[in-house]
Amino acid sequence: MTVLEVVFVERSPSKLLDITTLRYKSFGRLWSTSGAQMSAEMPGNLAELLRTTSGVVLDIGPGSGELLYMFDSAKITAMYGAEPAVDLHVGLARRARESGFGDKYHALVCGGEPESLIPALHRSGILKTDGGKSRVIGDEGVFDEIVCARVLCGVPHPKETIRGLFALLKPGGRMVICEHVANPWRTEGRFAARIMQVVYTAAGWPFFMGGCELQRHTLEFLKEAGEWERFELKYVGAQDTIPFIVGELVKKS
Ligand SMILES: C[S@@+](CC[C@H](N)C(=O)[O-])C[C@H]1O[C@@H](n2cnc3c(N)ncnc32)[C@H](O)[C@@H]1O
Repeated sequence: MTVLEVVFVERSPSKLLDITTLRYKSFGRLWSTSGAQMSAEMPGNLAELLRTTSGVVLDIGPGSGELLYMFDSAKITAMYGAEPAVDLHVGLARRARESGFGDKYHALVCGGEPESLIPALHRSGILKTDGGKSRVIGDEGVFDEIVCARVLCGVPHPKETIRGLFALLKPGGRMVICEHVANPWRTEGRFAARIMQVVYTAAGWPFFMGGCELQRHTLEFLKEAGEWERFELKYVGAQDTIPFIVGELVKKS
C-alpha cells in the first residue's frame, strides 16, 4: 500500500522573523500535548484559592484552560483570560464552556505586559475610555481578582508587568499567585538547587521552554509592586530546583 503524505508549507518569511510569534507557536504546541498532564497536581493550596475567586477576574496566561475546572464559575461575574498563544484558544474556549462559564468568559489574544494587555482590555470594553484613549488607571483598578499561575516566569520585563497588574487591581482586590522562582538558598532553600538553576539556564532552559526563566525574583517584584494589605506567599518545595511561591496578596483599600 502506498501512503501519500502531504505537507503544507506556509511561505511567509516575515513570520519567521517574528520571534515572539514563533515562541508562542512552539510553546503552544508543547502545552497542547503536555499541559493537562502538567496540571494534574498543582502546588500548595492553589486549588483552594482558585475555588474562592469571585467577581470580575483577570487570568494571565490561562493556556488552554487546564485550571478552569478549579474555579467556581457561579462566583465569577466575568473572567478575562489574557493568552498570547493563539493556538491555545480553541482548547481555552472549550474548557471555559465545560467549566460553566458560558458567555462570562472573555479570551483575549494578548500578553500580561501593559503594552499588550491595556489595549486588549480597552478593546474588550472593560477599561473605560477617556477622550478616546484607555484611561490611565491610577490606583482605582477594574478587577476584583487577578490570577497568575505559572506565567510570570515568562512575561517580558516582569517588574513593570507586575506593577501594571497591581494598578489594574481594585483597592481591596486580591492577586492569586502560583509561580516558580529563584531558589531561596539564603533562607529556606538550598545552594545546590540554586546552582542547578544556573546550570539549566546555561543549558538553554529558557530557549526550549518558550522563554520561561528559572531564576526570577518574583516574590520581591510582587512585594515592591505597591502597597499590600495582606501579603501571604509560601514556598512550596523550597529545596527543589523548581521551587514555587503560592498564596494570595490583597491590595490596600
Ligand atoms: C506554563 S503555561 C501555564 C498555563 C496556566 N496558567 C496554568 O497554570 O495551567 C504558561 C502560559 O503563559 C502564556 N504566556 C506566555 N507569555 C505570556 C505573556 N507575556 N503574557 C501572558 N501569558 C503568557 C503561555 O502561552 C502559556 O499559555
